[in-house]
Amino acid sequence: MQQLAGLFWNHTPRMMETMRRSGFEWPRLTETELSDVIGYLYYVKLFDEPGDPDLGERWFREKQCMLCHSVGGSGGRVGPPLDRYARYVAPIMLAEGMWNHGPAMQATQRMRGVATPTFVGREMADIQAYVREVSREAPRRAVFLEPPHPERGRQLFRTKGCLRCHGDTGRGTPYGPDLRAATVRMRVSEIAGVLWNHSFEMSARMRERGFAFPRFGGTEMADVIAFLYYLRFDETRGDSAAGVQVFRAKGCAGCHRPDTGAAIGPDLSRSEAVTAPMRLAAAMWNHAPAMYEVMRTRTVEWPRFEGDEMRDLSVFLRSLARSTAPARRAIPRR
Ligand code: HEC
Ligand code: HEC
Ligand code: HEC
Repeated sequence: MQQLAGLFWNHTPRMMETMRRSGFEWPRLTETELSDVIGYLYYVKLFDEPGDPDLGERWFREKQCMLCHSVGGSGGRVGPPLDRYARYVAPIMLAEGMWNHGPAMQATQRMRGVATPTFVGREMADIQAYVREVSREAPRRAVFLEPPHPERGRQLFRTKGCLRCHGDTGRGTPYGPDLRAATVRMRVSEIAGVLWNHSFEMSARMRERGFAFPRFGGTEMADVIAFLYYLRFDETRGDSAAGVQVFRAKGCAGCHRPDTGAAIGPDLSRSEAVTAPMRLAAAMWNHAPAMYEVMRTRTVEWPRFEGDEMRDLSVFLRSLARSTAPARRAIPRR
């Protein structure tokens, strides 16, 4: 969430120029409004564009799906025909079918000496596009699925037993890794691929511990994927020491100097604005035009944020606010 807030911020000078030229007023945002806008953008990023059917044909051949499955009448007869998956635009039901039949499919693959296929990038979306193009399913009406629901996914993560190895919040246990980093900058079909790639190993570990392999119905897998996707979204932990560096490197310290009081901008250690991550981002957004004016006259470069910088900065500023009473903490000078 804070990474997106940083991206938002990086674009403000251009937005300001454009708005000024077109006579728009700078829209002020409350903390909740900014969270909602960013939440919406993040949600939209979860969705893939459809894959490429030509590439899909190639993956279907190279990963040897074709040996066992037919689509549009051609292909093997070992596994069931995949035509019925053509109803869906997104690859999620295909992924769910693979997951549910995974243990049996992998057993057949072992028996026949076929390597268990793995997926990178958008390959699963490409296979879905191929299935849609060549399927005999008639009439080929698209079925649109209900949008995925991270909160329902959180419930499923528990009821399907994922928490037994990955922990309630997905932060990992000795039995399974931390999942927060598993879905960075990934879309649905890629996350589905990640799940599949690890399903073999996971199913072995589940057997070891005497757990049944969980199966998904309806749009359950999509919900779990949305839950995984949101694990990082609410991450507010950061590195305060790195935040001090950000505060200096981005030039904030040049205008906000809580130790001297002789400053161009207000004392942030006494500001309500720094007490929560989205409050900070909203305050920065709302003050951007005033900051921009000052920066232009002083020819300071507009600070840009990348990676975790915004998060670290926020943690540092919060610690500053907490430490103001009774004794104020000085910002280390350059
Ligand atoms: C060695 C043979 C084999 C290969 C290779 C193979 N599968 Fe399968 N697949 C099967 C079998 C057998 C089943 C049925 C398993 C069962 O009975 O539960 C199955 C089931 C499925 C299902 C569920 C079908 C349904 O009716 O719901 C999907 C989806 C699927 N496979 C997709 C794929 C894709 C995509 C590939 C290539 C990446 C692939 N399979 C490669 C043998 C194979
Ligand atoms: C029995 C323990 C166990 C259970 C239950 C389990 N997992 Fe896992 N999971 C693992 C292990 C171990 C790995 C690492 C496997 C590997 O390296 O291939 C893993 C890997 C993963 C990964 C890939 C992580 C990465 O960094 O790429 C995802 C995503 C995942 N699991 C999701 C789930 C979901 C969703 C469920 C519930 C449906 C689940 N797991 C249930 C043990 C488990
Ligand atoms: C060129 C000087 C300048 C720089 C550099 C600067 N600011 Fe500001 N900042 C200001 C001014 C001036 C205000 C007051 C604007 C107003 O009153 O609308 C302000 C206001 C703020 C506020 C709102 C405080 C409140 O209590 O409402 C926050 C938060 C803030 N700045 C954070 C930052 C951060 C973080 C940086 C570094 C990325 C930064 N500023 C860099 C001049 C600057």
